Amino acid sequence: MPTDSFDLQPNATPTASPIREDILKNPGFGRYFTDHMAHVRWTLDAGWHGREVRPYGPLTLDPAAAVLHYAQEIFEGIKAYRHADGSVWTFRPEKNAERFRRSAHRLALPELSDADFIGSLKALLAQDHAWVPTPKSAADECSLYLRPFMIASEKFLGVRPAHEVDYYVIASPAAAYFKGGVEPVSIWLSSHYNRAAPGGTGFAKCGGNYAASLAAQKEASAHDCGQVAFLDARENKWIEELGGMNLFFVFKDGRIATPRLTDTILEGVTRDSVLTLARDEGLSPEERPISIDEWREGAASGEITEVFACGTAAVITPVGELVTEEGRIRLTAGSDNPIAKRLRTKLLDLQYGRAEDTHGWLTKLV
Ligand code: COI
Repeated sequence: MPTDSFDLQPNATPTASPIREDILKNPGFGRYFTDHMAHVRWTLDAGWHGREVRPYGPLTLDPAAAVLHYAQEIFEGIKAYRHADGSVWTFRPEKNAERFRRSAHRLALPELSDADFIGSLKALLAQDHAWVPTPKSAADECSLYLRPFMIASEKFLGVRPAHEVDYYVIASPAAAYFKGGVEPVSIWLSSHYNRAAPGGTGFAKCGGNYAASLAAQKEASAHDCGQVAFLDARENKWIEELGGMNLFFVFKDGRIATPRLTDTILEGVTRDSVLTLARDEGLSPEERPISIDEWREGAASGEITEVFACGTAAVITPVGELVTEEGRIRLTAGSDNPIAKRLRTKLLDLQYGRAEDTHGWLTKLV
């Protein structure tokens, strides 16, 4: 999709360069937004139309808009990376586009084509590329975080799939998701709440899943933990994922395991990339059920040498300990997380164009 198929309404009062440069020095995560947003509208009669890039700003929504009542909404997370020659690239956008369609199908929203999904990122970046930070070193994971999302905007309180829908992409300069960067995070094990149940929406990236995780996230914060780990809803035994990231376990014999995908687990693009990179590194990746007992026993015996979380926002972040109501699960091996660090470096080197893109994972945006 050529970017000129998106009409441009330029922002008449864009952020002044010195202010933008100041923001890019310390953007945090999800606090600042660029000057424009991309938008495509869908109606039952006309399908997708009205492609545009317009000034970033508040949306006008009718108070009866279906999304505000029935949470008919989905989103994605994907980043833009600046390479040393100044060009701007994104990572496996067709995977996000495909997941966005799966999420749309589950939430009874219209499916957006790859051409519109990737075209909207290109059209937005054509205007806002100056907001993509330049990494200061190979350890610097600064990027422009892109947030495509789709909402049911029809003014109607009947419970049925909306006949009017809007798709947007906003963009936010981002540093590390966790304040400590690559320092190990503590994770809280939720024993009162589950994130998803079979037949539900766990595999879809919809706001409702994240809303359902917040009470547990509150418990996590009360225990000084940065994230929550959820177990399966049927047996409360099998590890599923964190509130917004997948989990990996590294074993001392070179195996590296992550919970196998079910309809209660979000299929992370980083998760999939880690499985491939681990194989490239001579490790033996496994996708299989992993129980909380295996975590506890493997940590105590030294069989498990590392645990890490991964996601677009968090990249790869080591997990230092799991805090549970019965006590703490720490790795006796006292690991310095060499595998997590190695995979993280491999992934970042690829994303920032410092390593050869042997898997064809990069797409040029600008
Ligand atoms: C991401 O990694 O992109 C996520 O969606 C996690 C979170 C920031 C919602």
